[in-house]
Amino acid sequence: MTQEELFKVLVAHCKEYGFIFPSSEIYDGLAAVYDYGQMGVELKNNIKQYWWNAMTRLNENIVGIDSCIFMHPRIWEASGHVSAFNDPLIDNKDSKKRYRADVLIEDFLGKIEEKINKEVAKGRKRFGDSFDEAQFRATNPNVLREQAKWDEVHNRYVAAEKANDLAEYRQIIIDNNIVCPISGTCNWTEVRQFNLMFQTSMGSTADGASTIYLRPETAQGIFVNYLNVQKTGRMKIPFGIAQIGKAFRNEIVARQFIFRMREFEQMEMQFFIKPGTELEWFKKWKEQRMKWHVNIGMGAENYRFHDHEKLAHYANAATDIEFLFPFGFKELEGIHSRTNWDLGRHQQYSGRKIEYFDPEEGAAYTPYVVETSIGVDRMVLAVLSHSYKEEKLENGETRVVLSIPAPLAPVKAAVLPLVKKDGLPELAQKVMDELKYDFNCQYEEKDSIGKRYRRQDAIGTPFCITVDHQSLEDGCVTVRERDTMTQERVPISELRALIDKRVNLNNLLRKL
Ligand code: GAP
Repeated sequence: MTQEELFKVLVAHCKEYGFIFPSSEIYDGLAAVYDYGQMGVELKNNIKQYWWNAMTRLNENIVGIDSCIFMHPRIWEASGHVSAFNDPLIDNKDSKKRYRADVLIEDFLGKIEEKINKEVAKGRKRFGDSFDEAQFRATNPNVLREQAKWDEVHNRYVAAEKANDLAEYRQIIIDNNIVCPISGTCNWTEVRQFNLMFQTSMGSTADGASTIYLRPETAQGIFVNYLNVQKTGRMKIPFGIAQIGKAFRNEIVARQFIFRMREFEQMEMQFFIKPGTELEWFKKWKEQRMKWHVNIGMGAENYRFHDHEKLAHYANAATDIEFLFPFGFKELEGIHSRTNWDLGRHQQYSGRKIEYFDPEEGAAYTPYVVETSIGVDRMVLAVLSHSYKEEKLENGETRVVLSIPAPLAPVKAAVLPLVKKDGLPELAQKVMDELKYDFNCQYEEKDSIGKRYRRQDAIGTPFCITVDHQSLEDGCVTVRERDTMTQERVPISELRALIDKRVNLNNLLRKL
């Protein structure tokens, strides 16, 4: 199965098993807006809990808040979003489809990288143990040709980005014959800037109403509450404020399922520090955040840093943590050293002093900020796309299994009476009652045990507990493990401890 096919199958699987539904589906859906179903919401909540506890419980100097989506419109002027939160937009005149010019170029660069990697893989296969990748890259004519093309396009792209040169974006697209995937033509309009913020109005009368925005990031809610938290929490620098909440962006191109949505959720943390220490903290948070990801157990090789060459006007360092999605390495989280730009601007626009008196320095200053910002939905997609597997079994059948890291799995255990009679459902219910306060469990008595196992595999349940006739006599049940499909007899009294060992989120947190 190609990665593209796998992605389509995954989207269908998410719908079939109650993870993610297209929003407003009975009205034919709403583009780039998705609802979480009964399984999706559990997975999402587990991810949020892992993040929230890692931030606020493991760091005594980080506290959380929950600020509103609606904020004073001046906030978005101060933050620069009204004037500069734009994407370069381009239309194909034949298909009438709209694209982000920068994404077209980045995808083109990604395809060249893929070609180079394929050549390298071929070389590795041909030369075996004696393969020297560095030498191969430096001498193979196909690699050299593709690398030269990549360098040329990349250099032009970086220069155009720096200069905000929209005409040059278009020229790069034309010169490299980057075509519309729908029409297959290179018949492009000019590139225009498009503001991504959604607007609405607040107030009861048309005259009195004022334009307000749906927040495009949660971070500003933290900045404008900085003083409240610092004072009421008696926080001393360095300290952080964490928040999980909805954000809204009128994305031009939103075609990758929950990767790019118009309504999504962010988990952001702003870390307030002394000016001059920001690069040290930036490095620390880069390490911390990568550790948080790798700790989940989805393979360190599936993550990489992408340091920004072009920095936003307020940043003096920035990086992305990228994950290997089915459509390639893409941004999962951003880590930004935002200087004192945001607090400084709010100070200027609100006219209020937002300073910190540092008792150690004996002086007041506007703190610098290092931000970590991750999309909840992208994390959900990372977990689902990494976990989805179609396995050939010894008996020739295929099973679909979501090998979701156990602490994040929506359902931790399924309790299954072998048959619907002879007192087995009653004992199974007792087992449920024993476990349900600690774990999200499902009770299922319909269909054959094999079918029930398959259904639980498909939603990623780490343990299936089967209650059979012998259980009535010896008080033991059969526990089947999802990934290995191994089965063992376990006394009912030991179930709680056995499951807890694998699924307790604290075990993950302890490893951080
Ligand atoms: N406060 C900084 C900020 O918002 P960002 O890089 O624009 O930075 C941070 O966004 C994270 O939010 C991204 O790394 C991504 O995971 C997520 N994100 C951004 N736009 C998104 C969208 N349209 N759909 C889903 N997730 C998105």
